[in-house]
Amino acid sequence: MRSPASVSAVLWVALGALLVTGCADPADQPDDAQPPACETSYLTYQTFGAPFLTTWCRGCHASALPLDMRQGSPPQINFDDAEAARSQRARILARSVGEAPTMPPAGGPSAAERALLEEWLRCGAP
Ligand code: HEC
Repeated sequence: MRSPASVSAVLWVALGALLVTGCADPADQPDDAQPPACETSYLTYQTFGAPFLTTWCRGCHASALPLDMRQGSPPQINFDDAEAARSQRARILARSVGEAPTMPPAGGPSAAERALLEEWLRCGAP
């Protein structure tokens, strides 16, 4: 016979699982769409991620920027290092890759550069 505490624990876990799966946005799961090219991809943070982010994103999204130089970018959205980019890759994919990218706001990266960004991020931003 289960105690009331363990039954309620099971219910909480089930509710948690339901919330997590029920609200999952496909764009928040970049790993699901890993292209086979990852095994041979030469893109790393050093060779691609850092220079791309510096050129196209950190002018507005760096925590070292004074508030009045961020051009309206949210203070908590920063791409200072590999870990910051890696942990936000779903949002970077959503905004900077695909048919109608909206970051950077004024455009800039070519379609080819954006394709490389997508490859790097979908391969886990190594
Ligand atoms: C000229 C300044 C500027 C540059 C450069 C820029 N951004 Fe932004 N970014 C903004 C502003 C302003 C906002 C808030 C308004 C909005 O969300 O559109 C924002 C918001 C964001 C957000 C948070 C909103 C969300 O959808 O989660 C992400 C992520 C983002 N930018 C990614 C990028 C990436 C990746 C790059 C480089 C490829 C980039 N930005 C380059 C100004 C900039």
